[in-house]
Amino acid sequence: MTIVLGIETSCDETGVGLVQDGVLLGDALASSMDEHARYGGVVPEIAARAHLEAMVPTVRRALDNAGIGLDDVGAVAVTAGPGLATALHIGVAAAKAYALALDVPLYGVHHLAGHAAADTLEHGPLPDRSVALIVSGGHTSLLFVRDLVRTPIVHLSDTFDDAAGEAFDKVARLIGLPYPGGPSIDRAARDGDPAAVRFPRPLTGPNDPPLGFSFSGLKTAVARYVEKGDDPGVSTADIAASFQEAVADTLVGKALRACRDSDVDTLVIVGGVAANSRVRSLAQERCAAAGIELRVPPMRLCTDNGAMIAAIGDLLVRDGAAPSAPDFSAVPTVELTSAQLGLT
Ligand code: KG4
Ligand code: ZN
Repeated sequence: MTIVLGIETSCDETGVGLVQDGVLLGDALASSMDEHARYGGVVPEIAARAHLEAMVPTVRRALDNAGIGLDDVGAVAVTAGPGLATALHIGVAAAKAYALALDVPLYGVHHLAGHAAADTLEHGPLPDRSVALIVSGGHTSLLFVRDLVRTPIVHLSDTFDDAAGEAFDKVARLIGLPYPGGPSIDRAARDGDPAAVRFPRPLTGPNDPPLGFSFSGLKTAVARYVEKGDDPGVSTADIAASFQEAVADTLVGKALRACRDSDVDTLVIVGGVAANSRVRSLAQERCAAAGIELRVPPMRLCTDNGAMIAAIGDLLVRDGAAPSAPDFSAVPTVELTSAQLGLT
């Protein structure tokens, strides 16, 4: 069975994972997050340089963690998009170098397919039909998924504006919590009252698209609330908890609606925001009540990592997919319809 080396560099994490036949053998992660914190967001040039510095040591750590050598690697998978162009280029160039040196096939893969594949490392193969809610810093989508690698992935909806993670990051800044905003709000919300402020649940009215997402209005509602500043009994923790509740309520409500509409009984929630404690607990509650099986990867596999890229590479290899073309490039923007990129 082939051991797949997965490389992820789409944003600020240099992730390397090793997967064989659906099993995670080992992985390693380096993050440049601290270098971006003072700018309040990821600076692409800084991320790219950090990837370049971290790449070889992180591959080495992942191999050590798995207890194997580079010669044991039988295929390489790399995030070809979407993501920051300069950051993606480092990963793609490194992956080409490793594949060429080892004389093994190379697969350019879609970052979001990797997020979905992360769950299979924990819970095994996906069922025949499922709905996936992908919630990350750049994307918020509901997808109808079959096997992930052979049958085209169908978009049921995509956010009209901000992604859920982006809303977490922007709202954190508004209420004075540090970057990255998602984990900061999650932490602050533990001491807050989620019912303190009734923030809007976007696009949940009778005339709204039932699966549509939009988070920029919710962000504005928090900004207005903070500007008014005339509610002395309400703390930052209360605002964080109330905002988090509005996001979780909206995401989970729409995801369950998508399951009902598609007559599907498995919901998979993946991406950085799937690490949110309230999204996880509310999804658990409502899925149990609705008789829907919920699959969410362990927290460390929700945010960007290399294991998820090795996981989707492993699925492609086992499906007999042809390698990507040797001249494939990074694609900063690309919709997820197919797990593999770089086919000519
Ligand atoms: O999937 P990811 O690591 O990178 C992208 O592909 O975008 O997602 C990053 C996003 C960021 O916006 C971050 O604030 C959010 O996921 N995030 C969270 C949590 N952990 C990360 N949002 C809410 N709660 C969390 N615990
Ligand atoms: Zn991601």
